[in-house]
Amino acid sequence: MRAVVWHGKRDVRVENVFDPVIQEPGDAIIRVTSTNICGSDLHLYEVLGAFMKPGDVLGHEPMGIVEEVGADVTAISPGDRVVIPFQVCCGMCWMCEHGLQSQCETTQVREQGSGAALFGYSELYGSVPGGQAEFLRVPHAQYTHVKVPHGPADDRFVYLSDVLPTAWQAVAYADPEPEGTLLVLGLGPIGDMACRIALHRGVRQVVGVDRIDARLERARARGVTTLDLREVDDVGDAVRDLTGGRGADAVIDAVGMEAHGSPVVEVSQKVVAALPDRFAKKLMTTVGIDRLAAVQSAVDAVRRGGTISLSGVYGGMADPMPMMTLFDKQVQLRMGQANVKRWVPDILPLLTDDDPLGVDGFATHRLPLEEAPGAYADFQAKKNGMVKVVLEPGAPATQAG
Ligand SMILES: NC(=O)c1ccc[n+]([C@@H]2O[C@H](COP(=O)([O-])OP(=O)(O)OC[C@H]3O[C@@H](n4cnc5c(N)ncnc54)[C@H](O)[C@@H]3O)[C@@H](O)[C@H]2O)c1
Ligand SMILES: [Zn+2]
Ligand SMILES: [Zn+2]
Repeated sequence: MRAVVWHGKRDVRVENVFDPVIQEPGDAIIRVTSTNICGSDLHLYEVLGAFMKPGDVLGHEPMGIVEEVGADVTAISPGDRVVIPFQVCCGMCWMCEHGLQSQCETTQVREQGSGAALFGYSELYGSVPGGQAEFLRVPHAQYTHVKVPHGPADDRFVYLSDVLPTAWQAVAYADPEPEGTLLVLGLGPIGDMACRIALHRGVRQVVGVDRIDARLERARARGVTTLDLREVDDVGDAVRDLTGGRGADAVIDAVGMEAHGSPVVEVSQKVVAALPDRFAKKLMTTVGIDRLAAVQSAVDAVRRGGTISLSGVYGGMADPMPMMTLFDKQVQLRMGQANVKRWVPDILPLLTDDDPLGVDGFATHRLPLEEAPGAYADFQAKKNGMVKVVLEPGAPATQAG
């Protein structure tokens, strides 16, 4: 089959790899019809490369049609239409039963000290082959799937794999007051969707921050008050100006470890990315490597007694956090990989023809899987108005190369 394969920093290729087969009675094989590139993939493309091996298949936002199931899988059968959550989870352990599927105790990657195994997300998360491919093997398929109806286009459902539950959890953890102000840092797919969900839930004022025109415009068009990082000297001051001097009741960081605005760490990330893997891993797991510009804005802009919800991924072990300010301001901090299956029952009723969250038109680009290398480069550079790209396996390439 054809698959998007990691080869090195900023080097992904579409290649032939072996078709996946049923290995365990709990497995299923899915024929992938749509599969997205995520901001999390950009971390593997650059900073987290030390944890990848050439040949690893990327991708964790797929949906498609069930081809084959193992003997223990009774909940789905060939022909069913399914979205696959980005985490592999069993549905039966204590964590899964408590709605913490991204901490599943059956699939936890204990040798790395990590939570649940993730599709296509490096040895840190179990080296599970990913879903940017024509076919995907789904372990623990009895629970690791979301069945969706046939009929509407894939766009209606494909964001159930990651964007929707991640944004939903970000808002749930931020817990903004309806009469209050929610600040969302980063208007990529996650931040954009978090704004939409907060507005849908009736939050009075949603303020979004980014530095890319297309992203600011998209948010503005849906009723978000936007701040352009290129024009605003100090996000905290700008937010206090909008909130009678108090600050935002809740802040969502939808930026993550590659935030713009930390030139010193930017250099050290480049150094880490250029080191031989064994030194890079050692450095990342013992010292800080994250660019904390967005976290620092969050800590500054949140009001006293407010909440910060981190959905952006961070990776360093000893990043300097402003503990004194966090403590003094009595801030509540919540974070983590989204528990996909926990939020699906809340989200599914919104995926109707009325489309209150605008999922049908959410993708800015739909491209053949063969064009993944260019799509990764454009998405990283935030070029061509690219906010969310959906790849289609099996579609004929539109350009040479
Ligand atoms: N917690 C989870 O389960 C989960 C799931 C999916 C994605 N993520 C993470 O969420 C983050 C966002 O994902 P995405 O797909 O939207 O990625 P993205 O890279 O498209 O979006 C990030 C946005 O942040 C903006 N930005 C950069 N520096 C900023 C700053 N200092 N202040 C404000 N905005 C800034 C960028 O211009 C960009 O538009 C990533 O770190 C990703 O890994 C987490
Ligand atoms: Zn993702
Ligand atoms: Zn579990």
